[in-house]
Amino acid sequence: MNSTATLVLKHFGEKFLGSPKLYFSPGRINLIGEHIDYNDGYVMPAAIDKGIYFSIAENQIDTIHFYAIDFDEHFSISIHGIQINSGWRNYVLSVVNEFNLLGISLRGFNCVFGGDIPQGAGMSSSAALEGGLAFALNEMFAVGLDRVALALLCQRAEHNFPNVNCGIMDQFANMMGKKDQVILLDCKTLEQSYFPLVKEGYKIVLINSKVHHSLAAGEYNIRRQKCEQGLAILTSLLSIQSFRDITSADELEIGKSAMTLKQYNCCKYVVEEIRRTKKAAKLLQSNDMKGFGKLMLETHEGLSKLYEVSCDELDFLVDQAKLFPAVIGSRLMGGGFGGCTINIVEEAGVENFIQQTIIAYEQQFNIHSEAYIVETSDGTAKLPH
Ligand code: GLA
Repeated sequence: MNSTATLVLKHFGEKFLGSPKLYFSPGRINLIGEHIDYNDGYVMPAAIDKGIYFSIAENQIDTIHFYAIDFDEHFSISIHGIQINSGWRNYVLSVVNEFNLLGISLRGFNCVFGGDIPQGAGMSSSAALEGGLAFALNEMFAVGLDRVALALLCQRAEHNFPNVNCGIMDQFANMMGKKDQVILLDCKTLEQSYFPLVKEGYKIVLINSKVHHSLAAGEYNIRRQKCEQGLAILTSLLSIQSFRDITSADELEIGKSAMTLKQYNCCKYVVEEIRRTKKAAKLLQSNDMKGFGKLMLETHEGLSKLYEVSCDELDFLVDQAKLFPAVIGSRLMGGGFGGCTINIVEEAGVENFIQQTIIAYEQQFNIHSEAYIVETSDGTAKLPH
């Protein structure tokens, strides 16, 4: 058994009575389609083998107890007194709150969780936290929600107590991931299709910048607002309902004079990224990995210059990656302002790329980065133990 899973069970045994169930809830990567899940775009995420393990059992009282191994913190609350708190508590409490809002009355339980997913690395430890708990409660109390309903519940949970107005990508990948597959998700309709993740001869490598700028959540909501404001202007001038209905650059220009520069730049990025992601899906299907990689570089450029969610460290990592002929695509991944870059690398060049990048990054920023060669996983699931 995975060592984190063993640890989670051990802590449960030491702290609580009863025999718990064990769950694994994965983080995610995203190949392309960044910051467009909340803009009716398409995204290409996959669940990964890093995530959060939960051991959980009913306790026959009206109290919920959590123990978060990674923070060495306990937290208890009455099931009748669920309210906003802070930090990791907000994510788990918000999930419980969402069940309450559906009119489902939960009973008390004990829960220990711990992960092997780096926090703040853009691999969505938050969706893993929400998804694992939601999945476990859904089973434990026989609520009967399907995986898509659970993903939507977790998205609402993230909007609510943590106050991050995220799209659906992370929660969807967390619930609906399939081993060795990438999901092509239409975020407007939630229609999904699956492709093999990596083509012969390539690896996906994440480089963790190890920086996490604290403005990330606030800036995230601001980007979303700018897009909503820009879209409202565009829909008043054009016969469109969504960014995806804009098919030419000229259409966007029609709205330019009515927008602030920031609104315009955000809209331009979104329209371009929707177009890129559609093209990328075709390239992936026709095995054109180099073409796919070029689009990833364009995405980074847009995220950095137009959407303004990059930072010096991430820009450096992408510039650095461009120096390696073996790296065919590189960009920041996830919300931005720190976290990881995602790189598609020819297998033979992986080791050299990782070694050299870690050295160059340390020289530049005095930060020791980490690299992960991605392994995929299925969505959140109960594990035997
Ligand atoms: C975060 C959010 C997602 C998505 C990405 C950016 O991970 O949770 O919904 O918007 O940022 O693509």
